[in-house]
Amino acid sequence: MNKKVIIESPGRINMIGEHIDYNGGLVMPAATNKKLIIEIEISKGNNSVVRSKLFDESFEINIDSIKKSDVGWHNYIIGVLENLITKRQVRLVNFSCVIGGNLPVGAGVSSSSSLICGVLKGISSINSLDISNEEIIQIAREVEHEFIGVKGGIMDQFTIINGKENKLILLDCSDLSYKYVDANFNKYQILLLNTNVKHNLSETSYNDRVLECSEALEIINRKKNKYKYLVDVPSDVLQNLKSEFQKNIFKRALYVIEEQKRVRDAYKNLLDNDMISLGKLMYESHFGLKNLYEVSCKELDFLVEYSTKKSYVIGSRMMGGGFGGCVINLIEKDDTEGYIKNISRRYQEKFSISLECHIIDVSKGLKLSI
Ligand code: GLA
Repeated sequence: MNKKVIIESPGRINMIGEHIDYNGGLVMPAATNKKLIIEIEISKGNNSVVRSKLFDESFEINIDSIKKSDVGWHNYIIGVLENLITKRQVRLVNFSCVIGGNLPVGAGVSSSSSLICGVLKGISSINSLDISNEEIIQIAREVEHEFIGVKGGIMDQFTIINGKENKLILLDCSDLSYKYVDANFNKYQILLLNTNVKHNLSETSYNDRVLECSEALEIINRKKNKYKYLVDVPSDVLQNLKSEFQKNIFKRALYVIEEQKRVRDAYKNLLDNDMISLGKLMYESHFGLKNLYEVSCKELDFLVEYSTKKSYVIGSRMMGGGFGGCVINLIEKDDTEGYIKNISRRYQEKFSISLECHIIDVSKGLKLSI
C-alpha cells in the first residue's frame, strides 16, 4: 500500500476522426504534454478533502455517504468513489487530494477524463486495489456514462492511459486494437486555440448525436443490412437509402462515413510524410463537423476561417465534442508567433474574449509515482 502517490495525467488531442469513437471507427489521438498533477495521500480525518489549485477551491467528501454535488467538477471525483464503492464493493480509506497542473480545463482536451483516470489510478493505489489499466479505461467511461451522464466513446480514456512520447495512436474503437504512428510533422507543429467558450448545450447535444447515429444505423439495417457500426456502411449504400432518412439524420451518417475515410487517408499521408494533404483533410473535417454534424459554433468557425487564408496554417479544425473548446492547427513553426499575435487580437475584437494559445508536444500517458 502506498501512502502517498503523485499522478501525472495528460490531456488528449485528436488529429482527425471526431465523433467516430462511439461509432466504432478509427481515430487518431495522442496524449499531450499539458497535464494534471494529482497528489493523493491517505488521511486520518473523518472526511476526505479535495482541493483544486486550478479553481482555488476545496470540498469534503464523506465516503460512507456518497452523493452527487451541485458543482460539476466535484462529480468527477465523487463518481469514481461511487463506482468503486457501489459497483465494485470495495472499502476505501479517507484521503486528501490536491489537483494542479497546466491542462486547460473545459477546453475539449479531455480534462474531465484526465481527472477521472488520474483519481482512479491514485485511489486504486493507496487502497491496494488490483485494477489494471484496461479496467481503468472501462471504469472511467462507466463513470462518465452513468454518474456524469455523458455517453462518450472510449478515445479519451484510452489515450490518457496509452499515450506515448512523439506518437499518435491509430485506435480502432471497435475492438481497441491500435498502432502507434510517428508524430513527425517536419516544419509544422500543433497549436491549440482555446476559444474559452463552452456552450451549455454541449453535453445534451453530444448525447443527441450519439442517439442520432444509432438511429441512422437502425434505418440502414432495417433494409436487410447487418452493419455493426455506422463507419462500416459504404457510402453508396447510404446514398441509395437517402429517401428513408430525415434530413438531419442523413447528414450525421454522411459525416461519419466521410470522416472515417479521412482518417484512413490521413494515416497514409502521415506514412508518406505528406503534411499538406494531411492538413487539407483537417480542414475538410472541420467543414463536415460544421455543416453536416452541426457541432461547431461561431467562435470555432471564426478561428478556422481566419486560418484558411493563411498558407502557413496547413490544417485547422475544431477538436473534441464541439460547441466550444479548442481548434487544433497544424502550423509552420516559424510563423507561429506572428500568427498568435494577430489572431488573438482579431478574436478579442470580434468576441471580447481572450484567446488562449498552446503549442502542444505529443507526450506520454498517465504516470504514477510514489
Ligand atoms: C468527447 C468524447 C470522446 C469523443 C469526442 C469527439 O471528447 O469524450 O469520446 O467522442 O468528444 O470525437
